[in-house]
Amino acid sequence: MGITFDEATQTFHLHSAGMSYFMQLHRGRHLLHRSFGPALRADHLSRPAIFVARSFAVFPDADDPGFSRDTVAQEYPVPGTSDFGASALDVTWADGSFALSLEYESHAIRAGKPELPGLPASYVESDAEAQTLEIALRDPVGQLRVILRYSVFAAFPVVARSVTVWNDSAVAVDLRKVLSASLALPDARYELLQLSGAWGRERHLQRTTLRVGTQTVESMRGASSHQQNPAIALARPETTEDAGEAIGLMLVYSGNFVAGAQVDQYGSTRVYAGIHPETFTWHLAAGARFDAPEALIAWSGEGLGGLSDTYHRLLRTRVARGSYRDKRRPVLVNNWEATYFRFNEDAIIDLAQAAASLGIELFVLDDGWFGHRNDDRSSLGDWTVDATKLPSGLPALGQRLQRAGMSFGLWFEPEMVSPDSDLYRAHPEWCLQINGRKSSLGRHQLILDLSRSDVRQYIVEALARILESAPICYVKWDMNRNMTEVGSMLLPPERQRETPHRYMLGLYEVWEHLIARFPDILFEACAGGGGRFDAGVLHYMPQVWTSDNTDAIARLSIQFGTSLFYPASAQAAHVSAAPNHQVGRVTPFATRARVAMMGMLGYELDLRALTSDERDGVAKQIALYGEIEDLVRTGRLYRLEHPDAGGRAAWMFVA
Ligand code: GLA
Repeated sequence: MGITFDEATQTFHLHSAGMSYFMQLHRGRHLLHRSFGPALRADHLSRPAIFVARSFAVFPDADDPGFSRDTVAQEYPVPGTSDFGASALDVTWADGSFALSLEYESHAIRAGKPELPGLPASYVESDAEAQTLEIALRDPVGQLRVILRYSVFAAFPVVARSVTVWNDSAVAVDLRKVLSASLALPDARYELLQLSGAWGRERHLQRTTLRVGTQTVESMRGASSHQQNPAIALARPETTEDAGEAIGLMLVYSGNFVAGAQVDQYGSTRVYAGIHPETFTWHLAAGARFDAPEALIAWSGEGLGGLSDTYHRLLRTRVARGSYRDKRRPVLVNNWEATYFRFNEDAIIDLAQAAASLGIELFVLDDGWFGHRNDDRSSLGDWTVDATKLPSGLPALGQRLQRAGMSFGLWFEPEMVSPDSDLYRAHPEWCLQINGRKSSLGRHQLILDLSRSDVRQYIVEALARILESAPICYVKWDMNRNMTEVGSMLLPPERQRETPHRYMLGLYEVWEHLIARFPDILFEACAGGGGRFDAGVLHYMPQVWTSDNTDAIARLSIQFGTSLFYPASAQAAHVSAAPNHQVGRVTPFATRARVAMMGMLGYELDLRALTSDERDGVAKQIALYGEIEDLVRTGRLYRLEHPDAGGRAAWMFVA
């Protein structure tokens, strides 16, 4: 592993774990991308690049025939000065113009990997694990300084990239787009792999041939979304699970994003990812900085399986954090599909006792325990126990569960507020909203404006009060609608388009506070199932409720797709009732258990209603899972047969 700069050839070489990444300075000013792929010798680029003056190209330097950004691979492409492709950076200057020209200023190489302020990112535990290169570029007219950051790890064939923009001028500038990474590839003989779908059908693998023009996946929903995922891969047509080249590009971010591949006139490809520019502008004051989220670029010469293994190891060990990063996860039972909103204290205890006798360790009380919430029309925001359902309160319930041999987990949906709630009646200004526009409802609820510090403080304190009051070991953090009429009552007009990203920064700040204050709680993320399953979330919460669709057969495609990038340690999977509540399918109990054992196992059905054969079966499943949990959580996954290919699925974990 290492990063070198060769003065003679003006070449940067980043290498690690069988991978090489080359950049080169042209005339000491222009930063070019040269190659990315298998490990090569540092003197691989010992001769200067040869540029051909192509017809109709535009040349920024009159004395440098042949050099055009239109035809020479750019490391961080900018518009308006001879590059006509997908730009990585877009600004509106104070005078309204929008051309950019980034020129090399300096660079530094150091041990370790710095944190990204306020944003989730991969990390190291000692400086010996990684090296970081920072390259400073500058637009000489607008005095914008752009820091491109690259970290390589000894243990992973990955380049972690991030970008910081500094406004060194005396006037504000509007950042219209700041992508996290752009990567130039010399040909286009690739297929684009993306994870796409819908609620209940998340992250189905799609594989399409690249063509001239642009193919993108994106979300403008205020969350990474059920529909698309902020991780894409390019693979050769002949790449299989076990052999062939694959390149991954993953954003460590949970909000609006774009990821795309653009094939140009010469059959070269530009792959890129970052915050979606359409729902973004950042008003960068004189002297201020803006940090774009991290992008993780991975290389595999061992097929999609090799690419998955790299991301699994990286996300599990150097993106996820906290006491559960390396710890066995408890087998849980969740009451949602067993009772929905209709439960009381005795029913909960009965369910818990039935679960405890089978070897289940954790009882998760889902939606409906607070306010007066008997359906999804009220009470979000009012995080006080509903005494009609739970008259003894949460501390006593926790103690009863403990006496029954179960630890206690609780559901929250802290980012939301119901119009029918005391919180909304007291603070209507706390929602995302636009003056003079009606706010659309999703699942009868509105979204709290997490760009506001008073809102963030309310959420942290409301949750902390409950988590400190009762013996709670697990939190399911849900989020059940996407953003509309996005605006903040506190931001000035020129900053309204900052709201979606400020919301994400606020959410990350809340999570950071809570995981620091409650380091022993296992946090599971959820967004109507898998509506926010991304590396950003995994930095705070080591597992995610993979999908609200609990049908074992439907889950195969979802879990296989998810596994292209995300480890089994992140995929929560439950055994539910038959007929299945979402799709009505009847499957054998054993099938449901096997599929759920591809991830972090739980049960979500009325265990009181099991036959004695079924009870024996469940007890055996839990005993088996006890033996293999460590293997599933940390082993290498081999996808042997893909469910979408021939109607059968087979997978294997190897220690
Ligand atoms: C979302 C979650 C479910 C459940 C319900 C409760 O849909 O994904 O698992 O918690 O909310 O309302």
